[in-house]
Amino acid sequence: MTADDKAAAEVAAIRSRYEELAELAGSLAHEIKNPLSVIHMNIDLLSEDLIESDSPIRRRALDKVEIVRQQCERMEGLLRDFLRYTRLDQIELIPGSLNDQIDRVLKAYRAQADADSIEIQRYLDPDLPAILLHSDALQAALMNLVKNAIEAMEGGGQLWVRTSLTRDGVALELIDTGCGVDDTTLMHMFEPFYSTKDGGSGLGLPTARKIIEAHGGRISVQSELGRGTKFVLEFPVPKRLPASAA
Ligand SMILES: Nc1ncnc2c1ncn2[C@@H]1O[C@H](COP(=O)(O)OP(=O)(O)OP(=O)(O)O)[C@@H](O)[C@H]1O
Ligand SMILES: [Mg+2]
Repeated sequence: MTADDKAAAEVAAIRSRYEELAELAGSLAHEIKNPLSVIHMNIDLLSEDLIESDSPIRRRALDKVEIVRQQCERMEGLLRDFLRYTRLDQIELIPGSLNDQIDRVLKAYRAQADADSIEIQRYLDPDLPAILLHSDALQAALMNLVKNAIEAMEGGGQLWVRTSLTRDGVALELIDTGCGVDDTTLMHMFEPFYSTKDGGSGLGLPTARKIIEAHGGRISVQSELGRGTKFVLEFPVPKRLPASAA
């Protein structure tokens, strides 16, 4: 066996071990989800009982129940992101509008952006051709990006959102005037569980990238510490749309 063969065999062994572990982690996450939702439901019922009481002891108990409820929600969110991340390989894509997708996501974040003094500037090309997409998955990816941008602009700022036709397809640019990232974060930000935030899962960006790649697209980032961050998403435009296309 040559040195190259040996190295290739080692890589194959590591990959298969990785796939086995990823599958195991996926099943574990799934198994935790059901008991967690039972805990969550019972905590909700308990807080409904406590809220009706005037007794100080019960009021204090309600505060603690609320903490448990919030932590349940956090764990559920984490599991949801994790399961989404592990299950992205075969999603069904249908023709749709990238403008509509980003529009819906911006609507969902409008109240939060207003509350945080963030101005959203949109330049959505009205003649953008359709791409092949999975609406829920793509919106989840875009939500992660918009949420990160908002979180990066604590004292307010601007978020520029632009779609355009490119030589090879369509592009979506998201530019924020937030805190930006240093070189270390820039190198690691797409790795699962890498986060610089208290309580951040570090799954937002890797999930977004996986979803974008499942659309045949790619995502790139440029950032300057203290000035802001620019994400560019590029998607291919199908030469001929499937017959079901509007
Ligand atoms: N627009 C941005 N501006 C500045 N830093 C960013 C931006 N987007 C991502 N980051 C950096 O990349 C890291 C990873 O982002 P990712 O979305 O994966 O996880 P997170 O935001 O930390 O956690 P979660 O998404 O669970 O809230 C962030 O912790 C942050 O340091
Ligand atoms: Mg995030």
